[in-house]
Amino acid sequence: MEKITMEKMVNLCKQYGFIFQGSEIYDGLANTWDYGPLGSRLKNNVKDAWRKRFIQERPNAYEVDADILMHPKVWKASGHVDSFADPLTDCRECKTRHRADNLINDFSNSSIGDAMTNEEMINYINENKVPCPKCGKTNFTEIRQFKLMFETHRGVTEDAKSVVYLRPENAQGEYVNFLNVQRSMRAKLPFSIGQIGKAFRNEITPGNFTFRTIEFEQMEYQTFCKKGNDEELYEYFKEYGKKFYMDLGLPEEKLRFHDHEKLAHYAKAACDIEYQFPFGWGEVNGTHNRTDFDLTRHQEYSGKSMEYLDPETNEKYIPYIIESTYGLDRTVLAILFDAYHEDTLEDGTTREVLSLNPYLAPYKVAVLPLVKKYHSEKALEVYNKLSKSFMTTYDETGNIGKRYRREDIIGTPFCITIDDETVNNNTVTIRDRDTMEQVTISLDEVENYVNERIQF
Ligand code: GAP
Repeated sequence: MEKITMEKMVNLCKQYGFIFQGSEIYDGLANTWDYGPLGSRLKNNVKDAWRKRFIQERPNAYEVDADILMHPKVWKASGHVDSFADPLTDCRECKTRHRADNLINDFSNSSIGDAMTNEEMINYINENKVPCPKCGKTNFTEIRQFKLMFETHRGVTEDAKSVVYLRPENAQGEYVNFLNVQRSMRAKLPFSIGQIGKAFRNEITPGNFTFRTIEFEQMEYQTFCKKGNDEELYEYFKEYGKKFYMDLGLPEEKLRFHDHEKLAHYAKAACDIEYQFPFGWGEVNGTHNRTDFDLTRHQEYSGKSMEYLDPETNEKYIPYIIESTYGLDRTVLAILFDAYHEDTLEDGTTREVLSLNPYLAPYKVAVLPLVKKYHSEKALEVYNKLSKSFMTTYDETGNIGKRYRREDIIGTPFCITIDDETVNNNTVTIRDRDTMEQVTISLDEVENYVNERIQF
């Protein structure tokens, strides 16, 4: 089973309509990517899977859809205005830009860079002759803190008072609506607020395709709880997240927990789930015990009480928050890498397959008339019927083997062939993408057959 390189994945995503370079006809805008017809289907299916596990199937869980633009004080309170920045250094030789902490971590194969000051980092780089990953030389500029939040202005004047930020995370939209949700849903602790939405960060270091982009989507989930229940919930969500990734189809051996040694100012504990990408282990999720930091800060900056009145004990307190956040684009990328393989068939030929979890596949079914001239009328009838229930595609060009290959590489789990038997006896053959086995069933059973096999 042949796996896939990054370059091949980028080409494959373009060729089959999953992901295109952003603004491609203008030679692209760095670290931006557009999802094509199949990529946006896949992405939406991942969102649906997340909604099912995190909102629908969990008790006391509510989804919100907060605005991207928020009051600038939100980002003061959250700490982003003052401290959301990357330590960057330029290679004087080849003019590439790098995150100093990443240079050190990659060089030392550890996370020691995370805990260093700017001065400590540049000293370490010079003393240890940490090489530039591009040209191999050690000749770096001083380290500067580079702000990651995008700013814009509202209204007609472009002064400090009119600054608004494109949100760098979804979490704050969930925090500022904590009391709105609690009251309107009559929610009791512990309860959760989830949100799927865009986030923006001025990332200027190399992106590894959609792994690091300036505009991306997060599926963020905040569980509000009483202090004392936080540690148990933190452990619970670490495991729940891993299970979610395994349910999406990622194998356990390619997932690992990475506990943070250096904690963000708000966190009591933090752990990432990493996936083994071809370029190395990369974070796809983060679970954080944020304590009562966020709501306390919003209470301080807004002047509004963020306290919860416990109906059982009559106590008033600011809840703790356990955050579990999922990068949608990184999740999609991991799924694509994992699903792709090349099989060598018995006749020595190879086929490329995207073995996606059927729930995630852009098309669930392909309807293929065996001979266009004789079977297309019936096939279109079947297509029209099935497309009311699932994303269905139709293909009548080329020999049937080629059409199967076209569906295999885009991950369509079921191909339905319409032939004389369908016209005369109302039966069809259904071919399974992974086993390539074919079964004959009555046309009336097709919907149930597919439905049973695409559940999440
Ligand atoms: N609310 C907490 C928070 O935003 P984060 O670790 O900075 O935490 C959460 O981001 C997730 O968002 C990450 O685990 C990652 O999957 C995704 N993510 C972060 N920056 C990204 C970027 N530049 N491009 C794509 N995904 C990104």
